[in-house]
Order: sequence, then C-alpha cells, then structure tokens
Amino acid sequence: MASPFCCTTIVLSYVSIALVVAIFPTLGTGSTRLATTSALEMEAKALLHLGWWSSYSNDTCNRCSWVGISCNEAGSITRIDCSRFAVSGSISPQICALSSLEYLDLSSNNLTGELPQSLGKLTRLKELILSRNFVEGSIPSGWGNLKSLNQLDLSHDRITGPIPSTLGNLAKLELLNLSENQIIGPIPSTLGKLTNLKQLDLSFNQITGAIPPTLGGLTNLEFLFFTSNQISSFIPSELGNMKSLVELNLSKNKLNGLIPSSLSHLSRLRYLSLDSNHLEGPLPSQIGNCSVLEELNLSNNHITGNIPFEVFTCPHHTLDLSQNFIEGKIPHQFHNHFCLHVLDLSHNNLTGTIPDLSWRLEELNLSYNSLEGPIPEYLSSQFSSDSFWGNKYLCGNQPDFSPCPSTPINKLKIVNKLKFVEIIVPVLCFLAFLALGVLLFLRSRAKDNIPEPNVTKNGDLFLS
Ligand SMILES: *[C@@H]1O[C@H](CO)[C@@H](O)[C@H](O)[C@H]1NC(C)=O
Ligand SMILES: *[C@@H]1O[C@H](CO)[C@@H](O)[C@H](O)[C@H]1NC(C)=O
Ligand SMILES: *[C@@H]1O[C@H](CO)[C@@H](O)[C@H](O)[C@H]1NC(C)=O
Ligand SMILES: *[C@@H]1O[C@H](CO)[C@@H](O)[C@H](O)[C@H]1NC(C)=O
Ligand SMILES: *[C@@H]1O[C@H](CO)[C@@H](O)[C@H](O)[C@H]1NC(C)=O
Ligand SMILES: *[C@@H]1O[C@H](CO)[C@@H](O)[C@H](O)[C@H]1NC(C)=O
Ligand SMILES: *[C@@H]1O[C@H](CO)[C@@H](O)[C@H](O)[C@H]1NC(C)=O
Repeated sequence: MASPFCCTTIVLSYVSIALVVAIFPTLGTGSTRLATTSALEMEAKALLHLGWWSSYSNDTCNRCSWVGISCNEAGSITRIDCSRFAVSGSISPQICALSSLEYLDLSSNNLTGELPQSLGKLTRLKELILSRNFVEGSIPSGWGNLKSLNQLDLSHDRITGPIPSTLGNLAKLELLNLSENQIIGPIPSTLGKLTNLKQLDLSFNQITGAIPPTLGGLTNLEFLFFTSNQISSFIPSELGNMKSLVELNLSKNKLNGLIPSSLSHLSRLRYLSLDSNHLEGPLPSQIGNCSVLEELNLSNNHITGNIPFEVFTCPHHTLDLSQNFIEGKIPHQFHNHFCLHVLDLSHNNLTGTIPDLSWRLEELNLSYNSLEGPIPEYLSSQFSSDSFWGNKYLCGNQPDFSPCPSTPINKLKIVNKLKFVEIIVPVLCFLAFLALGVLLFLRSRAKDNIPEPNVTKNGDLFLS
C-alpha cells in the first residue's frame, strides 16, 4: 500500500513540475535542470510530510541546514540524525523520496505507527536505526532490497510478526539488532548468508523453532545474542564454525540435547551463557579448550555426570554450574585459579570434600550439595553460611554448622591410639601371660628333674 503511494507521488511530481517552476522561479533556471530540481523538490515535500522539523522551521529552501540534516554537493539529503530529537507520529511513506539517504537515525524518540514498506526503496541506505521508539507492525519483506545496508537496529520497539527471510539478502549487513520486541516465528535459515555480520541480537522476543545450522556460516560474527526467547531445538554443532565469536548468549530459552563439543573450537570465545535451558548430558571435557573463556554460565539446566577437570583449566572469572544434576567430586586441579573470581556449584549433587580454593575468590556458592568434611578456615572467614548451607556433612567454625570433631591430623592420632588400645595392648598382655606361663612351666619341670638336696641347698641359698 505504501510503495504505490510513493510511486504515484513521483509520477504526479513529474507531471506538475512546470507548475512548480512557474510558482517558485528560484528553484529552476532551465529545462536541463528540470529533472534534478523535481527530485530535490520531492525531497523537500517529503520533509514536510515527515513533519519532524515543523516547530523548528518550514523553510524547505534551507533544509540542508536544518538540525540533524546533511546533504551532498547536489543538495540531496544523505543523512538524517534525529536521535533524541523528540520526534513523534509515524514515519511517512513519502520518506522513499529521499533517494540519496545513506544514514537514518531516529532512535530514542516517540515514533509510533508501522514500519513503512516504501523504506525498502532507499537502496543507498547504509544505517537504519529506529531503536527505542513505539514503532509497531512487522518488518516489511521489501526491506530485503536495502542492498547497501550495513546496520539495521530496530531494537526496543513494538515490532510484531516474523523475521522476513528476505533479510538474508542484505549482503553487507554487519549489525542486525531486533532485540526487545514481540517478534514471533522461527529464525530464517537465510540469515546464514549474511557472511559480513558481526553482531546479531534477537534477544527478548518470542522467537520459536530451531537455531538454523546455516548460522555456522557466519564466520565473521562476534556477538550472538538469542537470550529470552522460546527457541526449542538442540544447539547445532555447526555453531563451532563461527570462528570469530567472542560472546555467545543463548540463555533463557528451551534448548535441549547435549552441549556440542564443537564449541571448544571457538578459540576467541570469552563469554558463554547457556543458562536456563533444558540442556542435558555431561559437560564435554573439550570445553576446557576454550583458551580465552572468561565466563561460563550453564546454570539451571539438566546437566548430569561429573565436572571434567579440564573445565577448570579455562581462565574463567566466572564459572556457574549451579542448579543442575552434576555429581561426583569437585576436581582438585585448578590450573588458572588466580583468575577464577566467581564459583557457583550450588544445587547439584556433588560429593567429597571441598578442594583447595585458597586464592582470591570474590563469590563462592557450594550450597545444596552432598559435600562432607571441614569448611576450611580461609573460606569460613570470607563467606557466610549461605555459601555452604544444605550440605549435611560439612562441619566447621561457621554459624549453623557443627564444629568438626577434629582436624584430619588429630583424627590420625586417634586412629593410632585406638589401634594401640585395641590391638597392641591385648597382644602385649597375651605375650606377657604366655611368657609367665612358659616360665612357670619350665620352673615346675626343673623342680621335678633336680634332686631334693640341691633344692634345699638352693632354697637356702635364696633365702639367706
Ligand atoms: C510549520 O507548519 C505547521 C503546519 O502548517 C505549523 O503548525 C507550524 O507553526 C509551522 N512552523 C513554523 C516554525 O513556521
Ligand atoms: C515522549 O513523550 C513523552 C510524553 O508523552 C515525553 O515526556 C517525552 O519527553 C517524549 N520523549 C521524546 C524523546 O520525545
Ligand atoms: C541491541 O539493542 C539493545 C536495546 O537497544 C541494546 O541494549 C543491545 O546492547 C543491542 N545489542 C547489540 C549487540 O548491540
Ligand atoms: C546474556 O544476555 C542477557 C540479555 O541480553 C544479558 O543481560 C547478559 O548480560 C548476557 N550475558 C553475558 C554473559 O553476556
Ligand atoms: C584443543 O585445541 C587445540 C588447538 O586449538 C587442538 O589442537 C586440540 O585438538 C583441541 N583439543 C580438544 C580436546 O578439542
Ligand atoms: C547465570 O545464570 C543464572 C540464570 O540465568 C543467573 O541467575 C546467574 O546470575 C548467572 N550467573 C552469573 C555468575 O552471572
Ligand atoms: C545424590 O546422589 C546420591 C548418591 O549418588 C543419591 O542417592 C541421591 O538420590 C542423589 N540426590 C539427588 C537430589 O539427585
């Protein structure tokens, strides 16, 4: 509906060009400049239709010096930078007359109404930023014609409907931000064609369906955010091909299946957030190969099995494995422990004792496991009982915990004492009795063998 209107305007303008020149003689001086003049005149008209400068000026002759507007040498508008300009109302479909426009930033205003289909005619547009408004409607499929587009930011609006698959034609796109809207439907697999993409943010929508494996082709992508949607597939192993990825955030979805070990190929990955999903199975030990990983959050999933010690070889701040079904012992090998500042293993089924954590930890949560043995002094002095609560067999000088019966060294002494009392003493007594018995026996035999007089003599001898 919008684009035919724009085209009609173009035709009408050409037809009425003579009239325009007659009424405003300053605009054109000869028939050779007629076409250019008409195009410029249409730009002027379009600005009046947009109406965002009406309180500032209606003098279209000086439009190139209006606030936020830049023109090229021919006097055609190339930039509109009206971020936080207090513009309101809807975007007039006549905006398509601004055929030289390369940059349009209307972010953080009070714009309402729908996204105009006619905007798709601005094929020179490089940046289109409409974020933080109240714009509604769905993304027009015709916007797939914006061949020069480098940045498309429609975040924090009221956009509904699905993502048109035609966006996969925006071959120069480096940033696509559709976060914080009410977008529904699946992620089009065509987005995998956007090989120049560096940032893809679809967070906080109602996107469903699967993560298309084609996204693995986005080898220049640095930031991938799908947080807070309803994506319900497994994580395709192809994501391990996104070799430029720095931050991967798929948290708060309905992802299921295993964590693909291919993620360990992401050698630049610094933040990995897969928390609050339905991921299951054990942690792949290869995850320890993420040489620059700083933050790993797998909290609130259905992860089982042990913690592979390799996980602790990453140079993390943060390691959050809380609220899973992880069991077994906490690995005692910490390679880069100086860097680990936040460790949350709470709400699992870990057993065994607390390993050596004697470095500068800022946050620690081991609560609700099946850990046993003493809470080390250096931990109980730094962290409250909350960090250890819910482990029946932990003991220590912490409030709410029973004091440990003794340190392990004393325990050893007790064990030795017990051994002494229970085994050695009876054996010694037995040996003593045996020796006494033997002595008495020998003595009685000696009495029998030795003649009487000698005994008396000996007896006398002893008595004297
Ligand atoms: C521009 O035109 C509008 C509508 O005709 C009018 O309300 C407004 O006062 C005009 N602004 C200036 C600065 O002349
Ligand atoms: C948006 O409108 C509200 C009132 O409706 C106003 O307070 C606010 O300043 C406007 N903001 C912008 C950026 O225009
Ligand atoms: C996307 O837009 C939101 C809201 O405007 C912003 O907070 C977020 O940082 C943007 N994402 C990227 C990757 O730039
Ligand atoms: C993941 O995304 C959410 C929403 O955009 C953000 O609040 C959070 O900080 C992100 N996490 C990381 C580690 O970047
Ligand atoms: C770890 O990374 C190195 C180099 O990137 C690679 O050679 C090795 O095979 C990887 N190991 C695992 C277990 O993925
Ligand atoms: C990990 O994610 C959970 C759930 O989304 C969140 O509550 C927690 O704060 C995150 N952990 C860290 C250390 O950021
Ligand atoms: C924890 O592990 C123990 C022994 O392996 C098992 O008996 C218990 O049911 C587990 N608890 C939970 C909550 O999984």
